[in-house]
Amino acid sequence: MIKKRLLSGEPCKKCQQAEEVLRGRGLWERLDEVVWAQEGDADSPGMQLAAEHGVELAPFFIARDPGQSPRVYTSVIKFIKAELADAATTAAPPGTDDTLAAAAERLDETDPVAILRYALGRFGARCAISFSGAEDVVLIDMASKLGLPFSVFSLDTGRLHAETYRFIDEVRKRYGAEIQLMTPKPELLEPFVRQKGLFSFYEDGHGECCRIRKVEPLRRALSTFEAWATGQRKDQSVTRADLPVLQADPAFTGSAGELWKFNPLANWSSDRVWQYIRDNDVPFNSLHERGFISIGCEPCTRATRPGEHERAGRWWWEAETHRECGLHVGRK
Ligand code: ADX
Ligand code: SF4
Repeated sequence: MIKKRLLSGEPCKKCQQAEEVLRGRGLWERLDEVVWAQEGDADSPGMQLAAEHGVELAPFFIARDPGQSPRVYTSVIKFIKAELADAATTAAPPGTDDTLAAAAERLDETDPVAILRYALGRFGARCAISFSGAEDVVLIDMASKLGLPFSVFSLDTGRLHAETYRFIDEVRKRYGAEIQLMTPKPELLEPFVRQKGLFSFYEDGHGECCRIRKVEPLRRALSTFEAWATGQRKDQSVTRADLPVLQADPAFTGSAGELWKFNPLANWSSDRVWQYIRDNDVPFNSLHERGFISIGCEPCTRATRPGEHERAGRWWWEAETHRECGLHVGRK
């Protein structure tokens, strides 16, 4: 790996982030050496390598095999995918043969990292983290640090804030994670918008729009996995007070039939989540700096006032007991 050292003596920010990605995925030890490119010093070994390979970005990576020309990567994501994909550990967790009920009992009192270790140790990339908000990046951060394989998807409703799209991409780059963006089916969306326009939810509720833009794409995504992990917490909503850390999904089926649904942060408070974000320098949506707490689609989310409940800004024109979009309801 060729890292850039700034005139101040510090490594550049992108180099640090790439190192964190590699360390988080347990791949750092696989590098043979780190070569420094000193800013302003064309004779430093890293600068010489950059000139030799015509690279103008830091960091970059060179993979060499005897008798072959060197392969150069300026993206840590591509480097991992092309050169280190085989390296993630796949240790089976204790209780791999447990039934769902037994696993739920085993995990009931454990911490989120232990729950994720179980989920990813058992299912690996057949378990997907569903990503949209702050809690979900905490899960991605923990999963990256475990070094176990995992998948990530996000429901792109087409109505997210510009800030959310930037945030999704920041997370993709930071963790070197492939994020599967699920979009609504045109054959459902186009007639709906043609007949009812773009803001029908203010008149007849969010159900129909959420079904087309979120629930159907979610159903499609989940049908390819055996397990998923959400960032739901018990104290988020009156509708989530009894949330277990592991349940059989009551509404969706997976590729193997019964779908395991992990909620590793069920017992964490919002404060605990934000403590983790600060302690681990986890990226977050910039809207949180502008009074937004729980963030969904742009037309259906507003900033909350101090003292208001965190979900008060979601579908604010509807009753509190209806403020779920169908991703987490108990219906088949
Ligand atoms: S919602 O049902 O009201 O929209 P909320 O925003 O509280 O859900 O998020 C709860 C969990 O649902 C998140 O932690 C995430 O796992 C999942 N989720 C919500 N929205 C999305 C989305 N757009 N894409 C993927 N997962 C999502
Ligand atoms: Fe449609 Fe609003 Fe639901 Fe987004 S949250 S899918 S815009 S109703």
